[in-house]
Amino acid sequence: MKQYKRTLVTCALPYANGPVHIGHLAGAYIPGDIYVRYLRMRGEDVVFVCGSDEHGVPITIKAREQGVTPQDIVDRYHKVMKDAFTGLGINFDIYSRTSSQVHAENASEFFRKLYDQDDFVTKESEQLYDEEAKMFLTDRLIEGTCPKCGNPKAYGDQCEKCGCTLSPEELIDPKSKLSGTTPVKKKTKHWYLPLDKYEPWLRDWILEQHKEWKTNVYGQCKSWLDGGLQPRAVTRDLDWGVPVPVEGAEGKVLYVWFDAPIGYISNTKELLPESWEKWWKDPETRLIHFIGKDNIVFHCIVFPSMLKAYGDYILPENVPANEFLNLEGDKISTSRNWAVWVHEYENEFPGQEDVLRYVLTANAPETKDNDFTWKDFQGRNNSELVAIFGNFVNRAVVLTHKYFGGAVPANLKPEAVDAETLASVKPCREALEKYIETFHFREALKEAMNIARIGNKYISDMEPWKVAKEDMDRCASILYTCLQLCAELAIAFEPFTPFGAEKLRHMLRVGLDAGTDHRTGEGTPTVNFYKPGEGKALHTRAASSPATTGDLILTWSMLGTSELIPAGHQLGEAELLFRKIEDAEVDAQIAKLEAIKKAREEAEAAKAAAEAAKKVEPQKPEVTFDDFAAMDIRTATVLAAERVPKTDKLLKLTIDTGIDQRTIVSGIAEYYSPEDMLGKQICILANLAPRVIRGIESKGMILMAKQGDGKMRFITPQEVLANGAQIG
Ligand code: MF3
Ligand code: ZN
Repeated sequence: MKQYKRTLVTCALPYANGPVHIGHLAGAYIPGDIYVRYLRMRGEDVVFVCGSDEHGVPITIKAREQGVTPQDIVDRYHKVMKDAFTGLGINFDIYSRTSSQVHAENASEFFRKLYDQDDFVTKESEQLYDEEAKMFLTDRLIEGTCPKCGNPKAYGDQCEKCGCTLSPEELIDPKSKLSGTTPVKKKTKHWYLPLDKYEPWLRDWILEQHKEWKTNVYGQCKSWLDGGLQPRAVTRDLDWGVPVPVEGAEGKVLYVWFDAPIGYISNTKELLPESWEKWWKDPETRLIHFIGKDNIVFHCIVFPSMLKAYGDYILPENVPANEFLNLEGDKISTSRNWAVWVHEYENEFPGQEDVLRYVLTANAPETKDNDFTWKDFQGRNNSELVAIFGNFVNRAVVLTHKYFGGAVPANLKPEAVDAETLASVKPCREALEKYIETFHFREALKEAMNIARIGNKYISDMEPWKVAKEDMDRCASILYTCLQLCAELAIAFEPFTPFGAEKLRHMLRVGLDAGTDHRTGEGTPTVNFYKPGEGKALHTRAASSPATTGDLILTWSMLGTSELIPAGHQLGEAELLFRKIEDAEVDAQIAKLEAIKKAREEAEAAKAAAEAAKKVEPQKPEVTFDDFAAMDIRTATVLAAERVPKTDKLLKLTIDTGIDQRTIVSGIAEYYSPEDMLGKQICILANLAPRVIRGIESKGMILMAKQGDGKMRFITPQEVLANGAQIG
């Protein structure tokens, strides 16, 4: 494997048109954070870059819907997302935004260089234009009926119901989402990146030189390449975005997928104005993009082509994209509000950040789509974090306090099993390293958990609480061994559950060399020492100055060795590392989702009913005037009404027809109660031949209107008339 001097890690810039949800976390952000924490602990120089993706049409649509500006929308969500990431311990060196000045200049310069080099082709094309809104319509702003499945709400680029990709021309009866009018075709000119030109190079670079990429990523690239690449428009007719910096491009901006990946560069530049270039241009930098699977083509094909066209830039060494995470069996969707929102989770489960990190890693959609369920969340917390990891640590620390005043006991009476147990951590460490370095985070987490299992089994087998009754020296050795294992856990879990790992170190009164970050900006990396006893506070020092003496600082290289904390070292108080998640807590979350589902189903049903109501029956065959005149239709009033026993549909009505009082049995009980009918003036067909219904003679029929929704409504004169007034 190639040796690198430094690693630049990016996570997909999330769209600032909604908050982040667990699908985002599982897809890109948690894996990215695990990877970065790990590399930093290994002493590698890493820059970790992210930020909000603040351009694109959906943001303008949302702004329009809410009557605010796009800037208002992105300001709101930028903050929500940034805070959500921080809350979960996802420590980007920079989390900036594509509406920044640095980015506008950088993206503009990037485009301009390609333009000046003649890398683009231009094409004039006819595009759909909304004459009322005076705007070209991007694909998403056009709605029509899907030609494949008949979904009346398909977009100009895709039908979300059947998943097919479309072009606006294929839609049946296309309408502008802005004004509802039928769009017209109008000429416009755009700049295209000729991907077809880069195809041979891409084939070699990906298909030959990156066979090690994850099969889902490699496979998607291959099928794109095999399908043949077309030039791709990199400009749009829109007023929200980075203006196209050439003459004759008024009213046009860079396509969001052109400017957003450049945002990685802009944000690095903002973080390290003096030294950013080595992170992007020195071949000794390893570039890794963490993304979800819907971003693969942009990161593996389009952005590399842009970088290649520009020249000087390095290319991604790997793009470990994940598949999708579903929620309780359903596709996560921002627009359908089917998600667990990270900011809400942080409010509703304060202090439980690790649980989400743990579950989303244990269940990560690394090779195929996966499902998040609240029951699984609870189960994994209670039976793994609490019952294995937390339980082991708690027993070890509590017993040390009980028998040895909280100081690490001396290894007075070692037995082979102790050394064997400690030695068995070594293979876990090796596996952990291998898995993280190859982006198999689920497997890596299993290895970390294995260390906890080893500890839990060891303490259960050794039963130090029993041994204490007869052999305190042996008990000392057992607890000594347990505490070494606790220290191993405080290292191994740092990438996965950093809050719990920190709490554990606090209990053990040890620190951790968490490596170098660049969060202080300008070129001076700092080494972070999580020190004991001071909560989450981060102690930093310049990378070159020595560690404070007297602190017991753990390092990754200690993992799998035999002594991490020496005898005599004083521990802190025992605290519970993790707490049980109660049924009531997950039931509340499930109920919340069910309420969302129910509200959605009701809204959909109401909409369907409204559509159905519009359906009109075709006309019946012709009748003669005499046929009509033969019918005696007149006004009448309901004098009494009761349900016909043992039926759901029938009401027995006593009617004043103006001629007589009579009984009519009518099948309207589904729609009207007896009380509803009482005293109502209605219209009847009086001379209908009598019929016996349920033993009651019914003379006549009440006239009812029935529309597409199937509901029956009686017809009543506009003003109260005398009973028996003739209708005709
Ligand atoms: N905003 C995109 C999404 O959420 C990701 C953009 S990644 C970048 O799917 F590379 F363009 F920045
Ligand atoms: Zn469809």
